[in-house]
Amino acid sequence: MSKKHQFDILIIGTGSAGLMSALQLSRNLSVALVAKDDLLEGSSFYAQGGISAVLDAHDNFDSHVADTLATAAGLAEKTAVKFMVESAPAAIASLERSGVRFTKDSDRYHLTTEGGHTHRRVAHVADKTGQSIQVNLLDNVKQCANITLFENYIAIDLLIQNKQCCGAYILNKNTHQVESFIAHKTILATGGASKAYLYTSNPDTSTGDGIAMASRAGCDIMNMEFTQFHPTCLYHPHAKSFLISEAIRGEGGKLHLPSGEMFMQKYDSRGELAPRDVVARAIDSEMKSGGLDCVYLDISFKGESWIKQHFPTIYEKCLTFGIDISKTSIPVVPAAHYTCGGIDTNLQGLTNIANLYAIGEVAHARVHGANRMASNSLLECIVFAKSCAQDINQKKLQSDHCHFDPWDASRVAPSKEKVVVTHLWDEVRLIMWNFVGIVRSDRRLNYAQHRLEQIETEVDEYYSLYLISSDLIELRNLVKTAQIIIKSALSRKESRGLHFNEDHPKQSEQAKNTII
Ligand code: FAD
Ligand code: SIN
Repeated sequence: MSKKHQFDILIIGTGSAGLMSALQLSRNLSVALVAKDDLLEGSSFYAQGGISAVLDAHDNFDSHVADTLATAAGLAEKTAVKFMVESAPAAIASLERSGVRFTKDSDRYHLTTEGGHTHRRVAHVADKTGQSIQVNLLDNVKQCANITLFENYIAIDLLIQNKQCCGAYILNKNTHQVESFIAHKTILATGGASKAYLYTSNPDTSTGDGIAMASRAGCDIMNMEFTQFHPTCLYHPHAKSFLISEAIRGEGGKLHLPSGEMFMQKYDSRGELAPRDVVARAIDSEMKSGGLDCVYLDISFKGESWIKQHFPTIYEKCLTFGIDISKTSIPVVPAAHYTCGGIDTNLQGLTNIANLYAIGEVAHARVHGANRMASNSLLECIVFAKSCAQDINQKKLQSDHCHFDPWDASRVAPSKEKVVVTHLWDEVRLIMWNFVGIVRSDRRLNYAQHRLEQIETEVDEYYSLYLISSDLIELRNLVKTAQIIIKSALSRKESRGLHFNEDHPKQSEQAKNTII
């Protein structure tokens, strides 16, 4: 008989959104905090540039709001952006209370800048902001007696009864058994879906699980065509898309071609600090027209000691590949980085399914629109984790838990065809990279849609015949999320923000959301 757990609150995901929400929940509530991998693994851990907030006397909320809305190309909601921006200083204070020590110049924050920001407002811990946040938040969580941690547990599907969420079926990867987690409230904090693409800055956890689960459960999924491609990931056969932070460009780093010629001014008067969609498309265009494998980013003019102080992680990592960034330029290419769309939520993270919340990158909290401004994501995670927990703390929980039958594995067999799963994984990611990438066309999108429909049939058949595994769960979710991205992209008959379709190159006068 498979295990059944009962908690007040189930949180799926231990990135910055999941950990912060757990910490903000009342200590009277029993909380299950679940991660499909190591507790620290997820995009949050790798965040480099920092977290944006108005922390300087010369900056102001209106300016942070205006920059965010301008970058979002007409699709972010001002109320939501204002809420996030005005909550930012308190978010920084919460992180400091948990032990995060932001880099300072004497007693002031050392604030850096990135594309789209008109002021220096990015607080950071050198170039390992995410690591510091994750380690400190997890240390705090471990002190809370009301929180139980489940490491290497991968959620399969949400439990829905009478249009309410009652928890999830979750595979214990250690025992290979599916366990039922019954809860009064469930929070999805599962991160984004950039692993749908062959080249990505993201860790292996970003397979769109939360978006796929929520979609199957009946949630509205919004604006999924807006995949953000980070312009500068390290180009090296063994680097697995290691990110070269935008803060390098914020501190004066310049992009150039192999010939040494700089090109960004040709595309935008803001040059290297234009928003990411502009810079990624410019690089893509230079690479395609010049038949190049990569372009180059130079920060060497800052000198070794400055670089080691500000970008120690990037310096060390590049050195392991034989690239001394204090002496030479860094070979870079764009890669899928961030999912701007997601599960539609209100300011408290509540979805259109009762008792189901979504926070962090998995959510569409209406703050990023058609393009997220750099360093607004960690901010979103912390701000909405807090508002979500506050909403739950104020609610009276039902006295009884729902009843669900245990997972039934009686009609499936162990698979002897695991190669099918690995093959389809690779195929989906290649299709997405080649046909649903930085520059799209109707023809390529239609081809991708057609092939993804076939793959979905193959995956569904496999899913109904064989015992469930982590790879299979992720593949099923990846296929679902990829289809939502393609459907959203096909339905947008214009180009806006991160979505550029050469058959519809102009931006429409009216900005409309895509809802699937
Ligand atoms: P994540 O941190 O990705 O965590 C997801 C969690 O969900 C993990 O614990 C994972 O195990 C769990 N999970 C997923 N699926 C399941 C499942 N089925 N069952 C159980 N658990 C599951 N943003 C900024 O604002 N500033 C930056 O400087 C910055 N730098 C970045 C650098 C890199 C290299 C990357 C990849 C991203 C960066 N971003 C940055 C973006 C930002 O880090 C992420 O958007 C943010 O951290 C997402 O946090 P999250 O909590 O939503 O998800
Ligand atoms: C970076 O450091 O370039 C990533 C910042 C972000 O994704 O917001």
